Amino acid sequence: MKSKMYSTFASEYDEVIQDNIYNAHLERPTLQAMLPDLNDLDVLDLGCGSGVYAQYLLGQGAKHVTCIDYSKEMIQLVARKAQKADFTDKITAYSQDLSKGLPKEKDASADLVISSLMVHYIEDLNPLFSEVQRVLRAGGLFVFSTHHPFADFECTQSGNYFERELVQEEWNTVGKPVQVSFYRRSLTEITNALTQKGLVITQLTEGEVSEKVKEMDAGRYEYLSKNPNFIFIKCHKLA
Ligand SMILES: C[S@@+](CC[C@H](N)C(=O)[O-])C[C@H]1O[C@@H](n2cnc3c(N)ncnc32)[C@H](O)[C@@H]1O
Repeated sequence: MKSKMYSTFASEYDEVIQDNIYNAHLERPTLQAMLPDLNDLDVLDLGCGSGVYAQYLLGQGAKHVTCIDYSKEMIQLVARKAQKADFTDKITAYSQDLSKGLPKEKDASADLVISSLMVHYIEDLNPLFSEVQRVLRAGGLFVFSTHHPFADFECTQSGNYFERELVQEEWNTVGKPVQVSFYRRSLTEITNALTQKGLVITQLTEGEVSEKVKEMDAGRYEYLSKNPNFIFIKCHKLA
């Protein structure tokens, strides 16, 4: 799902998420805590955005990170950062619509696949998760985050939690209103798309907002401590 948020405003988005509440102090610490020892791993980052995860993964010893995103502007940001950090031999970054799968990736080529806040832009998760299963090595891990189905249910038009719906909203993430569309779906739809591909769910969490948010915005800290916003799932491809 294309949004100007990730193309026209890619640089602004990159700047904002370095130290904002939702990405820097809720999503990233929660997902990063679910990752294995990254030393020497081949990692695939689906919906990589501006490459904040790639920087983290390589900083933690990953062998190679392949960054994939629909947005060419995001891919340019990743390439620029890789050059600046002298990581060009350790990062491959290219533009690809992930709803069409991973046609450039070889079978059993990744130890770890991550995807942070991207899968809600994909209408049907089945083809993508099938591709994740294909590219993972035996024993490999898939760790991703997405909107919490209960939180998104507040946007329902149909009133039917089990019916997938396209939601359109205006977000102020980059300091001005930008139109964003995403898919709201049930937890059952998400977990079925994983388990039907033979991926075994080994951890599911609902995120923990960092203590630091208390100083940034006490009201938001209180809200996020009591209301789920994202969901995080870790799966294994059986050996
Ligand atoms: C919320 S941002 C998250 C970026 C990054 N994972 C992070 O945590 O900083 C979602 C990203 O998913 C990408 N995206 C959305 N739909 C996509 C699709 N169909 N194929 C590939 N990337 C997509 C967007 O371009 C955007 O960069």
